[in-house]
Amino acid sequence: MAYVRVEKAVKYFPREDGTDMLVLDAVSFETKEYGITCLLGPSGCGKSTLLNIITGLEHLEQGRAEIVSNHRDAGKDAPRLGYVFQDPRLLNWKRVENNLIFALKGMGIPRQEWDERIHKYLSLVGLLEFRKQFPLYLSGGMRQRVGLARGLVIEPEVLLMDEPYSKLDHLTARKLREYTLEICARLKQTALLVTHDVEEAAYMGDRTVILSPRPARITDILDNPLPPLERDVDDTRFIQFKKKLLQSVMRLVKEEV
Ligand SMILES: Nc1ncnc2c1ncn2[C@@H]1O[C@H](COP(=O)(O)OP(=O)(O)OP(=O)(O)O)[C@@H](O)[C@H]1O
Ligand SMILES: [Mg+2]
Repeated sequence: MAYVRVEKAVKYFPREDGTDMLVLDAVSFETKEYGITCLLGPSGCGKSTLLNIITGLEHLEQGRAEIVSNHRDAGKDAPRLGYVFQDPRLLNWKRVENNLIFALKGMGIPRQEWDERIHKYLSLVGLLEFRKQFPLYLSGGMRQRVGLARGLVIEPEVLLMDEPYSKLDHLTARKLREYTLEICARLKQTALLVTHDVEEAAYMGDRTVILSPRPARITDILDNPLPPLERDVDDTRFIQFKKKLLQSVMRLVKEEV
C-alpha cells in the first residue's frame, strides 16, 4: 500500500526582479492507494513543480508532501519512485536492457533479480524482442514504452508520469494510454499522472485532481465512476464523466477571463 499525501503545500519561485511568485497556494490532496490519480491543470500552473516536490527535487515553503507507505520505515528510507517523462530521456548509447539496468543499479536492486525483471517489464510493454536494440532505432512510441518499462522495473511505490504522451501523435498516444492503463491495473500500481488534457484525465484517472491556473489551487477532486478496463471513449457513461470534468475546468477558465 502506498499513496501520495499533499497537505497545504505552498511554493514560491523568485522572479527576475527579486520578488516572489506564488506557484502553489495551499494545495491539499491524496492520491488513490491503487490506481492512477491525474493532476489536471493548465500550462504553467505548477503541475511539474508539484511532482518535483514529491520527488524531493524542490522544497516547500509551507505544508508537506509525502509518500505514505507500509513497505518501509518512512523515517529512514527514501521512497521508491518511478518517473516517466514527456520526453523518454533514454541513454541512446545504451541498449534498451542497459537503460533498464541503469535504473535497477541506481535503485540498488540486487544483480540476480535484473534478468527476471527486465524480462517481465519489457514483456509487459511488448518490447521483449527489442531488448538488445539501441533506442535510436525505435519509433517514438516504442521509446516511450521503454521509458514506461524503466519507470516500472524498479517496482516503485508510486509511479510519477509528467505528460508522458503529449508529444506523440494522436493514435500512438491513444494506444499508449490503453497500454499504461492496463498495465497499472494489472500491477495494482499507484500512479500520479500530470496532464492538461481532459479526455486523458477522464480515461486514465481513477481520481482527477483539478488545479486552477497559477497560483495552483485545488478546485475539484473527482473520482471516476468507471473502472479502468471499462472505459470506452465512445461510451455514453464515459462521455458524461468527461463532460463533468470539462465543466469543472471551464468554470475556472470563465473565472479567469
Ligand atoms: N526553477 C524555477 N525557477 C523559477 N520559476 C520556475 C521554476 N520552475 C518553474 N517555474 C515557474 O513556475 C510556474 C509553474 O511551472 P511548472 O513547470 O510547474 O508548470 P506546469 O503546470 O508543469 O506547466 P506545463 O503544463 O506547461 O508543463 C511557471 O510559471 C514556471 O515559469
Ligand atoms: Mg510541466
